[in-house]
Amino acid sequence: MTQDNPSLAIIGGTGLNQLTGLSGLKERVLDTPFGSPSAPLQLGLMRSKQVIFLARHGQGHHLPPHAINYRANIWALREAGVKAVVGVAAVGGIRADLGPGSIAIADQLIDYSWGRKHSFFDGDNERNTRLGLQTVSHVEFDPPYDASLRKRLISAAVAAGIECAVSACYGCTQGPRLETAAEIRRMQQDGCDVVGMTGMPEAALAREAGLAYACVSVVVNWAAGIGATGEGIHSQIEQALSEGMEKTHRLLSVLLDD
Ligand code: HPA
Repeated sequence: MTQDNPSLAIIGGTGLNQLTGLSGLKERVLDTPFGSPSAPLQLGLMRSKQVIFLARHGQGHHLPPHAINYRANIWALREAGVKAVVGVAAVGGIRADLGPGSIAIADQLIDYSWGRKHSFFDGDNERNTRLGLQTVSHVEFDPPYDASLRKRLISAAVAAGIECAVSACYGCTQGPRLETAAEIRRMQQDGCDVVGMTGMPEAALAREAGLAYACVSVVVNWAAGIGATGEGIHSQIEQALSEGMEKTHRLLSVLLDD
């Protein structure tokens, strides 16, 4: 059955600048009270379901993690009527079982990013009242990812025969540089299993906007100082990115089939 309103959006990161297999593709350029999203929204049909795709780093992958307008991205999706968002993110693996090519559906996060516009509640009360937002809101953020969307992603991975870690803590660094080995050791002591640069404030803004949000972490390299392979990070990334993104595509098409 075809759904008329896209209830699900996918935000694609490094390696997933477009969603192959979308038919009847239409682009929608949206502006928001928080500025412009990274790219036009792409609306299309996948497995007979309407879905929206947004390229987090822009269509030419020109936006570094700290320059992404996360607020505009989430607001544009909300405006488009979406109820749930799956963020796909390339990450470095810290935990021993999360080497390049692995997939993790994170259940926790730690935010090490700074200086990003991380909340819709920034003191512009007039605008927020106009938008139907309260003036100040301390949203609950634990668990940080939507439990039922995570369950759907995990079931889709099982149905697609894709091994994935069902519990992992995502550490979000500021970037765009990669971490030092000492920084990764500290993150490991903090309990982080994977490290990426874009998971926050995306997850928290989705919660503020009332959207269900979950993250598919695609491990594309060992984090700095981990898994002494002798290979540089960039050559690991090239190899793992296509494997990881092929799995992600399969997972998403099963997700849209349920
Ligand atoms: N660190 C932070 N972000 C990343 C990494 C990493 O090693 N790999 C892919 N995104």
